[in-house]
Amino acid sequence: MLRTHTCGELGMEHVGQEVTLCGWVDTLRDHGGAVFVDLRDRYGKTQVVAAPEAGPQLVDSVSRLRNEYVVRVTGTVAPRPEGTVNSKLATGEIELRAQQLEVLNTCVPPPFTPSQQEVPGEDLRLRYRYLDLRRPEMQRTMLLRGRIVKVMRDYCAEHGFIDVETPMLGRSTPEGARDYLVPSRVQRGKFYALPQSPQLYKQILMVAGYDRYVQVARCFRDEDLRADRQPEFTQLDLEMAFVTAEDVIAMIDGLVARLAREILGLEVPLPLPRITYDEAMRRFGHDAPDRRFALEIVDCTDLAAACEFRVFQSAAHRGDFVRGLRVPRTAARFSRKRIDELTEYVKQDFAAQGLVWFRVTDEGQLESSVAKNFTAEMLAQIAQRMAAEPGDLLLFVADTWEVTCKALHGLRKRLGAELKLYDPQQMHFSWVVEFPMFEFDKEEQRWDAMHHPFTSPRPQDLTLLDSDPGQCRAQAYDLVINGYEAGGGTIRIHDSRTQQKVFDLLGIDPQMARERFGFLLDALQYGAPPHGGIALGIDRIVMLFARLDNIRDCIAFPKTQRAMDMMTEAPGEVDDRQLQELGLTIKKPEP
Ligand code: AMO
Repeated sequence: MLRTHTCGELGMEHVGQEVTLCGWVDTLRDHGGAVFVDLRDRYGKTQVVAAPEAGPQLVDSVSRLRNEYVVRVTGTVAPRPEGTVNSKLATGEIELRAQQLEVLNTCVPPPFTPSQQEVPGEDLRLRYRYLDLRRPEMQRTMLLRGRIVKVMRDYCAEHGFIDVETPMLGRSTPEGARDYLVPSRVQRGKFYALPQSPQLYKQILMVAGYDRYVQVARCFRDEDLRADRQPEFTQLDLEMAFVTAEDVIAMIDGLVARLAREILGLEVPLPLPRITYDEAMRRFGHDAPDRRFALEIVDCTDLAAACEFRVFQSAAHRGDFVRGLRVPRTAARFSRKRIDELTEYVKQDFAAQGLVWFRVTDEGQLESSVAKNFTAEMLAQIAQRMAAEPGDLLLFVADTWEVTCKALHGLRKRLGAELKLYDPQQMHFSWVVEFPMFEFDKEEQRWDAMHHPFTSPRPQDLTLLDSDPGQCRAQAYDLVINGYEAGGGTIRIHDSRTQQKVFDLLGIDPQMARERFGFLLDALQYGAPPHGGIALGIDRIVMLFARLDNIRDCIAFPKTQRAMDMMTEAPGEVDDRQLQELGLTIKKPEP
C-alpha cells in the first residue's frame, strides 16, 4: 500500500504517529512561510502543513502543487493549534506536519474543481465526469447507491432468492418502449434487441422451478427522456412462484422497511398503505400520487348538473365531470394575477377549458367573478361539499374525466410544492393496486396492455375479458414513493389459453404471438407454476432516498436528454468496414 491511512481517518488518537496519506490537492493556501494543503480522497479531507521547520525545499515543493495534483505525503500527526480546530471536518482536530512529498501525478488546469462552491454546468459535469464524481455530493450519492443495492441484495439473499443473470442480447421484450437493436454479423439482416426488462426470462425461470429469482438488471428503453427516466437504467428485478399479489407486496413491504431503517434511520409502519387505481384517480387524479400531503380532489358533478352556471351544467349533461380542490387558507395570498397564471397553466399544459375559482369569505360565503351565475343555495351546497372554510380558495375544472384528472393532478403537485404543504425530507411509501388490464388507444382504436401482456386479470374479472375488457382489473401493483412510481409488478398468466385470449384482445394474432413469444407460450405448456413478481427502479429509489430530483445525479455515467454520453461521445459513428460486415448502409438524414 502506498498509504498508511485515508484522508478521512486521522484524529487525536493518532497524534505523534508517522503516517503516509495519498490523495488529491483540494485546496492550497500559502501563508508566506507555511503552506497548507487540504488533501482529499473519497474518505474525507486532511489538512497538511509544510512548515518552515521541515526545510525550504519541502515548503517550496508543496507551494508548487496545483489543484487536483495527486500526491503522497509522509509526516507526523499533530494537534491543530488553539483556535484553528475545524469542528465541521471529521479530521478537524489534527493536521499532518509534512516531512516528505511525492507528486504521483500532475493535473492540467481543470475546467472546475471538485471543491468549488458553485455547482458547475451540467454539460461540463457530464463531459468531465471523473472530476464531477470527485465532488463530495456525487461521492455521497454513489456511496448511498452502493449501500442501497447492498441492502437489497442482502435482503433477497436472506429470503432465499437466487441471483440469476439473463442475456443482454435477446429478442424484443414487451415493455412497450422502442427497442435498442444490435445487428448480428453472423446472421446478416437479423438483430438482437437489448432487454427492456428481463420479464420473459424471469417467467421462464419460474417454469424451470427456480422459485425465487432476483437480479440487479440493466434495462434499455428508447423512449422520450424526462428527469426521472434514462435510456439505460437498473432494476431490482424479482420473480416468485406459488404466490399471490399479497405475498409479493408483503415481501417488498419488508424490503422497503429495511431500506428505510438502514439507509434513512426511519421506522416505516407496515403494511404500507394501499389504494386501488380507481381510488387513486378519484382522489388524486394520478396513478402515482404524492401522498405526503392531502389536497384531495372532490367531485361536484352531481351538484353541477343541477346548477345554473352553464360551464358546469353543460359539462355534467355531456357526461363530463366537475371536480375541484380546496386549497386551505390561501384566498388572501392568491391575487387575480396568480389565479390567471394557474388558469393558463391548466389550459396550456393539460388542454383544460379553464379554471373556475371561488374565494371563501370570512363569513364562509363563496365569492368569484362567476358567483352571480349560482343561486345562494347552490353556492352553499358547493361550499359544504368542499368542506370550505373561511380563507380557502376553491378551484374547479369542468371537463372530461382524463382532463380533470390531469389538470387537477398538475395543480395539486404545483400547489403542494409552492405552498410547502409537505416537508421535503418526509418520505411516503404506498401501493396502488388493481390497475385496469387494458387502456384504450383512441388514435389507434385498439386496446393496449396497461402493464404488459403477461399480466393476469383478477380471477373474479376473467369473464370481463369477453364482455367488457375496459372494466377488467389486473393483479397489478405499483410501489409509489413521494409521487414517483418506484416499482411495478403483477401476477402473471400461467395458462396458455388465458394468455392467448389476452393476446387476441391486444390485437396480437396467433401467428404474431408465435413469432414474438412462441418460446413463452411453449414454456407455459410445460408445467408452469402460478407466479408473479415486481421490478423496482433502483435509480429512482436512489434519487428519492438522496432527496434529489434528477436521476442523472444518481448514475455514475448517465446519458443526456438526447441519449448521449457526453464523456465518451456515444453514440458514435463506426467505420465502413464494420458496416459492411453487418450488411448495413446508412441513409443520411435529409438536410
Ligand atoms: P416497469 O416497466 O413498470 O415494469 O418498470 C419497473 C420500474 O422501473 C423503473 N423504470 C425506469 N427507471 C428509469 N428510467 C426508465 N426509463 C424507467 N422505466 C422504468 C420504474 C418502474 O416502476 N418487467 C416489469 C416488472 C414486472 O412486471 O415484474 C417492468 O419492467 O421505477
